[in-house]
Amino acid sequence: MQRQMVMVGFLQAQNCTNLVSSWRHPESRTDTWSPEYYADLGRVLEAGKFQVAFFDDRLAMPDRYGNDHRHTVEHGIRCVKMDPVTVMMVMGMATKRLGLGSTRSTTYYEPFDVARTFATIDLMTNGRAAWNVVTSMNDGEALNMGKDVHPEHDSRYDRADEFMEVVMGHWTSWDDDAIVQNKETGLFAHGDKVRRIDHKGKFFQSRGPFTVPRSKQGHPVVIQAGQSGRGKQFAARWGELLFVGSPPTLELGRKNYKEIKEAVAAQGRNPDHCIIAPSAYIICAETKMEAEDKAALTERLTTEIDALSLLSEAMNFDFASKGMDEPFTDDELDHISGTQSMRDRVLASSGIKNPTPREFVKYSHRARPNKPFIGGAKEVADGLEEWFSTGICDGFVVAATHVPGTYTEFVKYVIPELQRRGLYHKDYRGETLRENLGLPIPRIGA
Ligand SMILES: Cc1cc2nc3c(=O)[nH]c(=O)nc-3n(C[C@H](O)[C@H](O)[C@H](O)COP(=O)(O)O)c2cc1C
Repeated sequence: MQRQMVMVGFLQAQNCTNLVSSWRHPESRTDTWSPEYYADLGRVLEAGKFQVAFFDDRLAMPDRYGNDHRHTVEHGIRCVKMDPVTVMMVMGMATKRLGLGSTRSTTYYEPFDVARTFATIDLMTNGRAAWNVVTSMNDGEALNMGKDVHPEHDSRYDRADEFMEVVMGHWTSWDDDAIVQNKETGLFAHGDKVRRIDHKGKFFQSRGPFTVPRSKQGHPVVIQAGQSGRGKQFAARWGELLFVGSPPTLELGRKNYKEIKEAVAAQGRNPDHCIIAPSAYIICAETKMEAEDKAALTERLTTEIDALSLLSEAMNFDFASKGMDEPFTDDELDHISGTQSMRDRVLASSGIKNPTPREFVKYSHRARPNKPFIGGAKEVADGLEEWFSTGICDGFVVAATHVPGTYTEFVKYVIPELQRRGLYHKDYRGETLRENLGLPIPRIGA
């Protein structure tokens, strides 16, 4: 069978899309905190046979800039952030086949809690759940979740590794054939087919036994998006659906894809059971010219304050503490405790050793769509096909300039063209997310 693309909707349970300016877009819906919004959006994605609707998350509004939230609220910079797991369930109830992924942080939750939440979602959606494992980003999240500062970058991944050991322990502690439910004999489940994990480690203790049986797909699909050296190592060990940033060049995209697949194999895993999907903005319309007009409108809606605020948030550094043209010192660059890959990307793409805030805004593409695919069906499909067919990715995390517009237009114009080329499925293969992603069911005991 011809290899086919995986499509993931890059969604937010917030007042804007990943692109802050989206709330100002004339065609954006203004009821982003209503259940109808998410139910309608789920139906659009399912009509387009998207395999996954994915909700990102952060546990604070981006108030790192100037250590003040007033600008965040005034400019609508992701200041509404609902619990994505709850919102995702609204979408789950409005759909039948669409996979449902949501983010939970290993830095600020307990593994038993996360294991139970996602195992429950997996049962309540008939095996369509996925968990995006993140280690979180900044002090705002720490301050909301009972800590003073966000822990150091690599140590977060050490904790995350142990977190996963506990979660996987719980998710594999009921055998698939544990439940008998025999009303005559009175046996509900085999006592020896449900085990404790008795975990006592450096960061966590969790005894078990776990309290949720396994779903049709075994356990939720694990999503991960580590981009640093340590993050990629973690992703290669645990991730089944791996998100990557938009590559700076196609060559680097190919190199990254190859390295990730090799890292997955080095962990003793089958690289085919690991799907790599970069985030990609799509601006499409009936004609190329119309799409270009739309892209120009999006460009006009972006502002510098959005970018500075999001840079401060992601890198966990207050950009207001520097003049716009004042270069970062070596020491400041060395001690970025947030997203180091963003720093590295700016250094690499600008060729500047000590960039200024203005240069960070320019080269990071924060608050602007990063190299969007723009055009009618043909141009966008050509672009996606090139990435997919030349070793850059297995699918796309489709980011929106406005909602529902980006998705309704993508489903209307681009999806049929990809289907015509045989690059995208015409219907869901099965009921569970694993079936629809071509991932095996992790079997236990039976
Ligand atoms: C498509 C995509 C979605 C992401 N979603 C989240 C998210 O919801 N929450 C979060 O804290 N980080 C999110 N991240 C960030 C990653 O988890 C990761 O921290 C980041 O890519 C930097 O890599 P590093 O942690 O190895 O430094 C996302 C990254 C990508 C590419």
